[in-house]
Amino acid sequence: MERKEFISKLGISLAAICAGCGIASCGSNPKAEDPAPTPTGGTGGNSNALLSANLDSELKNVGEFKVSNGVILVRLATGNTANAFTAVQVACTHQGTPVNYNGSQGKFICPNHGSQFSTTGAVLVGPAATSLKSYTVNISGSALSVTA
Ligand code: FES
Repeated sequence: MERKEFISKLGISLAAICAGCGIASCGSNPKAEDPAPTPTGGTGGNSNALLSANLDSELKNVGEFKVSNGVILVRLATGNTANAFTAVQVACTHQGTPVNYNGSQGKFICPNHGSQFSTTGAVLVGPAATSLKSYTVNISGSALSVTA
């Protein structure tokens, strides 16, 4: 009886010591300060840009496109004006598959189930029921940026 009580108390004491050791020796506590992601402003000089392009070297021909940060930017016409471009979300609103721009048909087509969207992102053919989000194209000289 006495021996059992002693062992019982010893067990509790050892557990307390080990728990203390575990806390004291734990060097793997994550640091509270993880570095924040660095904004990617691109080359357009607009730090809020989702996508940037240098029109001196990119998107020179009608039908060319660029994809970044979930946005697809397409040149629809000649000239370096905002209305010569369109920018919409690249993820199909049906199940998220990236859409492609079909220049000959002038629309976005999802390769997964065939949804089609206008150049402004409106649904032309389902199964998608929701338009692609449209973004604002800004141009300053040869610097193009796309913002929300
Ligand atoms: S994911 Fe685009 S039509 Fe289904």
